[in-house]
Amino acid sequence: MTAFVEAASPHTMNTYGRLPIALERGQGCRVWDVNGKQYLDALAGIAVNTLGHNHPELVPALQDQVAKLIHCCNYYHIPDQERLAAKLVELSGMTNVFFCNSGLEANEAALKLARKYGHDKGIALPKIVVYEKAFHGRSIATLSATGNAKIQKGFEPLVEGFIRVPLNDIEALKAATANDPSVVAVFFETIQGEGGVNPMRSEYLKQVRALCDEKDWLLMIDEVQCGMGRTGKWFAHQWAGIVPDVMPLAKGLGSGVPIGAVVAGPKAAHIFQPGNHGGTFGGNPLAMRAGVETIRIMEKHDLMGNAARVGAHLQASLEKALAGVKGIKEIRGQGLMLGIELDKPCGVLTQRCADAGLLISVTADSVIRLVPALIITEAEVNEIVAILVPLIQAFLAEQA
Ligand SMILES: Cc1ncc(COP(=O)(O)O)c(C=O)c1O
Repeated sequence: MTAFVEAASPHTMNTYGRLPIALERGQGCRVWDVNGKQYLDALAGIAVNTLGHNHPELVPALQDQVAKLIHCCNYYHIPDQERLAAKLVELSGMTNVFFCNSGLEANEAALKLARKYGHDKGIALPKIVVYEKAFHGRSIATLSATGNAKIQKGFEPLVEGFIRVPLNDIEALKAATANDPSVVAVFFETIQGEGGVNPMRSEYLKQVRALCDEKDWLLMIDEVQCGMGRTGKWFAHQWAGIVPDVMPLAKGLGSGVPIGAVVAGPKAAHIFQPGNHGGTFGGNPLAMRAGVETIRIMEKHDLMGNAARVGAHLQASLEKALAGVKGIKEIRGQGLMLGIELDKPCGVLTQRCADAGLLISVTADSVIRLVPALIITEAEVNEIVAILVPLIQAFLAEQA
């Protein structure tokens, strides 16, 4: 295995623990490697390929765009930026959008918005509340906001100005911020992804919204992984009936074309002025077309409804098949963002599943994460269960 990896990647930096697999093409929820082996894709490039692979409506639209204009920079108006922004505003109930290229960039912009929000109010050293087990990216600021010492180690000094609290504990949030006039924002994922598929409870989301209103803080919700229809609502926080002030998006928004966005409500929409933020590639015509077409195709085929229905079926099937199995701690998540937590580290399952023709990931050491494309069918999730469950059972049996 090592020889394959070294031979396959002699010149790229050694930043990923890659499986010895090179994927060559995909169709729907299936992918094939360079040796012709087929896999069922329950990972979708880590919650990115919303429309699966080689979607018959997305591909011609992107081909059309590539032939027209790939990039032009933000010295000029880009009509599809306005189109995509208008759509995101409509879906979110918020007001304005800034475009960038990735999740960490969207979060970086959110952090800058929060700091400037504080400075505009005369707060010289603004503080932002962040969460245990959070993942917001790997730039210096976003890894500082991330709640994982392994990701931070070796990159100190970290960015200052974060207060860290546990999930779903309103009293802990109140205690950590009590009498602190420098707090400007609360920042979290509705369902933590990398941290192990950990949902914020609806009741807690409502309490934090109320607290942010009372204290005049920004409520900033990172929907990079859980957003864009995956849970059966456009944005996962919508299950709680709340609206954030700032919402970073990325991953599924472009169905595989790199894209990021920060959606802002009235409290945050006019903080940035010309010269405050920007980037060469952000909002480029190709990425914007991918975003516009992704949402159009999702609406046309009710893929959000599909995510809710097929996701509920997947969760129920896993619960049934794994009921009473010793070593299963919890099956949790919503729609097509599900985690199966085992009582021990189970990273070896990624390779074993791949050998059996199924792509998954294990996150937070012991949580099997399933985030397939939103086009996945009931028959395909039945296949996931049929491959995955015996492998989990065998793994737990050999560890017992
Ligand atoms: C919730 C969340 N925020 C931010 C990021 C970072 O996104 P990117 O990898 O595009 O920088 C991720 C990536 O996994 C994520 O899950």
